Amino acid sequence: MAAPRPAHDRSTSPRGDAEIRVVAIDGPAGAGKSTLARSLAEHLGVERLDTGAMYRAVAWSALRHRIDVSDAEAVARLARDTAIEVGERVVVDGEDATAAIRSAAVDSAVSAVAANPAVRAELVARQRAWVAERGRGVVEGRDIGSVVLPDADLKVYLTAATETRARRRARERAEGRSVDAVHDDLVRRDRLDSTRLASPLPSPEDVAADAKVIDSTGKSSRAVFEEVLACL
Ligand code: CDP
Repeated sequence: MAAPRPAHDRSTSPRGDAEIRVVAIDGPAGAGKSTLARSLAEHLGVERLDTGAMYRAVAWSALRHRIDVSDAEAVARLARDTAIEVGERVVVDGEDATAAIRSAAVDSAVSAVAANPAVRAELVARQRAWVAERGRGVVEGRDIGSVVLPDADLKVYLTAATETRARRRARERAEGRSVDAVHDDLVRRDRLDSTRLASPLPSPEDVAADAKVIDSTGKSSRAVFEEVLACL
């Protein structure tokens, strides 16, 4: 059997054309996925889907309905019944939850929701439908290149040192949490995301043959974007 070809190597693209239609961006929290996804989507003239916002939307809805996030059955039912629109705003069952899904409470609850296989099955189906409807797009998350869209034309795995990610994330958050508190949350979520049984976040070494791995530590978002542009 032939060795798998790197998805970012257009010269050996099995599709034989150079057009990039679907891009998968994966990596841990605070690595800069959303910033890169935004620039890339604009450059390619396609839409962007933040799949993390979908898991956050279910976690937020569970908190609102006082559903225990460790009650796998109840959370799975909730995921199936919840309408989620993810664009510039995140609308959950008709309510704008854009800011609320980024709260510390949701940060704490989201890993349990994302570890639930039935929730993943529901959201992965919606993510694939989103891409199938458009035929193109930039999709970011943890399992996009590995599970959701294994045939993506370009796969990027973005990472950065934990301290760098915590500093960036603390700057972004409106709640003004300390860098230390954000750091502890990232370390906790990284551990849960990469050790769960259902679609764990792969390590950069695991995906290196299949994805363009970029360590954004010490790099500007522009520099990261240009590194990706060089693969198009
Ligand atoms: O923005 P941040 O990097 O903090 O995380 P996010 O992309 O908003 O994702 C929030 C959580 O959703 C992650 O910690 C994962 O547990 C989960 N997630 C996932 O399991 N699979 C995805 N494709 C996207 C997010």
